[in-house]
Amino acid sequence: MKNTVSTIREQKKNGEKITMLTAYDYSTAKLMDESGINMILVGDSLGMVMLGYEDTISVTMEDMIHHTAAVSRGASDAFVVADMPFMSYQTSVYDAVVNAGRLMKEGRANAVKLEGGTTVCPQIRAITDASVPVVAHLGLTPQSVNAFGGFKVQGRDEAAAARLISDARAVERAGAFCVVLECVPGRLASYISCILEIPVIGIGAGNGCDGQVLVYQDMLGMYSDFTPKFVRKFACVGDMMKEGFSSYIKSVRSGEFPAQEHTFSVSDDIDFTELENDSD
Ligand code: KIV
Repeated sequence: MKNTVSTIREQKKNGEKITMLTAYDYSTAKLMDESGINMILVGDSLGMVMLGYEDTISVTMEDMIHHTAAVSRGASDAFVVADMPFMSYQTSVYDAVVNAGRLMKEGRANAVKLEGGTTVCPQIRAITDASVPVVAHLGLTPQSVNAFGGFKVQGRDEAAAARLISDARAVERAGAFCVVLECVPGRLASYISCILEIPVIGIGAGNGCDGQVLVYQDMLGMYSDFTPKFVRKFACVGDMMKEGFSSYIKSVRSGEFPAQEHTFSVSDDIDFTELENDSD
């Protein structure tokens, strides 16, 4: 069954946890879809885990459209959310609507995600009014890494917690249908999940949220540059890949691969030397 804005809202109402993972390509999206994931986020984290940047700042609209379109082709049932990259919506409400539209039309996303609270509410309102579902992103918002002075837990003191609560209420009022809360103390995230009607998806925000999201390379042990405290490795795919690559290298070097069963045959009656002579 296709996951939609309505089924996701319904899951919160029924107390059924919402599952979300990032993906950036067709094959991975298809595997997740077949596993029964509710939502796939084409995160701008692709800048780090796919393109090797140190943060998400350099990711472009073209990068996001390219990867979102690939994921959308692999996702039959999963609800696909595309991240709006840095400076694709902060510049103006007009830019925000145009770029959200491109992610829907060219990337075939089901919704867009953008970072920020009260300051981006005009953008959330306008995009929603254009019939594009919006996921808000609060707490540690990686596009603000330079303003934050690093990747840090948010909402730890009274003033920061109050700001986060007020931002969460503001994005809901502006029309967001879902919120991602990143790197927020568990008790605060639980409180926000209780007071909002819309689903709250946590990452590094404890288990009191309505759902969870992780970057798939982190949870499969495929990205070793940096592993946040909140990540659990559900499989060691990175090690398995390295084993596979080493085994391939060994087999090619020894001449053991390709074997007979990987090789196409041609009739022994054909004499290639004769063919060459014939063509002279
Ligand atoms: O870009 C991303 O992958 C994200 C998640 C960390 C929520 O925004």
